[in-house]
Amino acid sequence: MSDPTIESILQEKRRFSPPQSFSDQAYIRSEREYEQLYSKAAANPERFWGELAEQELHWFKKWDKVLDWRPPFAQWFVGGQINIAYNCLDRHLTTWRRNKAAIIWEGEPGDSRVLTYGELHREVCLMANALKELGVKKGDRVAIYLPMIPEAAIAMLACARIGAPHSVVFGGFSAEALRDRLVDAQAKVVITADGGFRKDKTIALKAQVDLALEHGAPSVEKVLVVERTQEEMTLKPGRDVLWRELKTQVGADCPAEPMESEDLLFILYTSGSTGKPKGVVHTTGGYNLYTHITTKWIFDLKDTDVYWCTADVGWITGHSYIVYGPLSNGATAVMYEGVPRPSNPGCFWDVIEKYGVNIFYTAPTAIRAFMRQGEALPQSRDLSSLRLLGTVGEPINPEAWMWYHRVIGQEKCPIVDTWWQTETGGIMITPLPGALGTKPGSCCRPFPGIVPEVVDLDGAPVTDDQGGYLVIKKPWPSMIRNVYGDPERFRRTYWEQIPPQDDQYVYFAGDGARQDEEGYFWVMGRVDDVISVAGHRLGTMEIESALVSHPLVVEAAVVGRPDEITGEAIFAFVVLDGSQSPSAELAQTLKEHVVQEIGAIARPGEIRFTDALPKTRSGKIMRRLLRSLAAGQEVSGDTSTLEDRTVLDKLRGGA
Ligand code: WT7
Repeated sequence: MSDPTIESILQEKRRFSPPQSFSDQAYIRSEREYEQLYSKAAANPERFWGELAEQELHWFKKWDKVLDWRPPFAQWFVGGQINIAYNCLDRHLTTWRRNKAAIIWEGEPGDSRVLTYGELHREVCLMANALKELGVKKGDRVAIYLPMIPEAAIAMLACARIGAPHSVVFGGFSAEALRDRLVDAQAKVVITADGGFRKDKTIALKAQVDLALEHGAPSVEKVLVVERTQEEMTLKPGRDVLWRELKTQVGADCPAEPMESEDLLFILYTSGSTGKPKGVVHTTGGYNLYTHITTKWIFDLKDTDVYWCTADVGWITGHSYIVYGPLSNGATAVMYEGVPRPSNPGCFWDVIEKYGVNIFYTAPTAIRAFMRQGEALPQSRDLSSLRLLGTVGEPINPEAWMWYHRVIGQEKCPIVDTWWQTETGGIMITPLPGALGTKPGSCCRPFPGIVPEVVDLDGAPVTDDQGGYLVIKKPWPSMIRNVYGDPERFRRTYWEQIPPQDDQYVYFAGDGARQDEEGYFWVMGRVDDVISVAGHRLGTMEIESALVSHPLVVEAAVVGRPDEITGEAIFAFVVLDGSQSPSAELAQTLKEHVVQEIGAIARPGEIRFTDALPKTRSGKIMRRLLRSLAAGQEVSGDTSTLEDRTVLDKLRGGA
């Protein structure tokens, strides 16, 4: 987060109470009700979660034990049998919801589709049978590499239905990044599309899959291809199968497989401090419960609502709050293929107006981009259907919060600033919109059952308003279970950064935070080598390895530079091997190289060539210095450990 943002958050004192009319109809109506729930959960968490699991979900078999906690490994609803696709679909079919819209989908070119619960169920059964036809069995991993079309949700639910863990790979990742993820998960089948529409162009996906498989992902036996853009592609006989054709060859009868509560539901890769993305493991029962109940209470989701989360299904937000949470609640969810683009900067407001969206959940980077476009655009559309707004992905600066409140929410919609992570599975710290007052820039208070704290590096709590590390002290149902295939990394990354005290393990979130005297949390940003560009989480090491894999590069250091719209932008310091001199063309080539290695989301905004990087005597790159340089600030603080002081002068001059 940039320094001006931190400054404005530190000075923020405004507080907004929920409108009485909102509270009156909400699930949780007052601060008192919130506190009662919170205390109830704190007094006996297992009873709290057990009661909710019983009330809110369908179980084929009830669990024997709510929680088995052998730090850092947790098992929830041990012995219980459940299927999340059943909870998202089948159980609604015996009610009036059978003919209710489950997904309202709007394509970028303006085409649209509505799938009722009945129709969605049928599509999911067909795809599940198609996967079986391709040899997928319970436990086999299936990769999903699709644009934002209904088939993305259908594919996830089809996997869940037959007990095949999915690994969704964001469509913006390159063939190389896809291949790494296919190999790590040992995926058997890939579900992809010819391409997708993005910013008035088509992007080829099948071609990327072909490349990934050519470069070696031998576990992949079949590729199921959805046709979206009708662009040219080649089908490899015996490997590639068209969804349109296979769909007509399978039946629509496919009972949901009873899964053990702790069976693997999905793997989702996310960036960490090392070069290799980690496969975050989520399992079935606890994830189903937590995404269900957070969707219900935080978005105050009612049967009459039209709910829209603008994320991509390739990220955890899409998993939890486009697909599983809303559908488990029997809600109507909008899914939009497009993003704001020069030809249609107001497309989000068009979608809200067209479908009468009531609940709108987006990211600070989008809000800041809208602010820049001015108020005229949203004001020219009818946004009066909105009743609740949400934000996620990075700290929101109070200016953007106020603009969102005033221009989009027309001063009547509560805003839920929701803090969570890929690893937490669901929202952890957030306002409950009918119950708690909000403060611009604060993600408010913990969800019932969640016990966060701000501590120092020894694990000791810091006093009110002191900065420290955000940790979670008690296990929760949708917590990360493991790093796929790497339990040591799981332990090291999340449970040993803060040393366990008296065998009390705490989950280390990787964020800096403070808590004010009213118990409100203010998250300040990552404390590790992870940067957030337009809400996309990237590891600086990943980008560095991509740069160094270019033959002309000997060393690279990547830092985040504050950016008004995207929060952070990628700034790379690069040391060349000396055979070519630095040039604008070379910088361009290296940027393209990173796009090829990781994907367009990782394209460096700026590359600065240098003959050396500032290092400590023990050889550690001094990132703090690089961050200041990238931000155009004077380098302050301690530079005494710098090994070669002339490096700093050269870097300043942009040598
Ligand atoms: C990181 C997790 C959770 C879905 C999207 C991102 C940052 C997330 C907030 C918020 C301040 C936030 C944190 C976190 N973050 N939400 N409301 N306020 N920071 O998921 O890619 O796993 O990234 O996003 O730094 O650690 P992710």
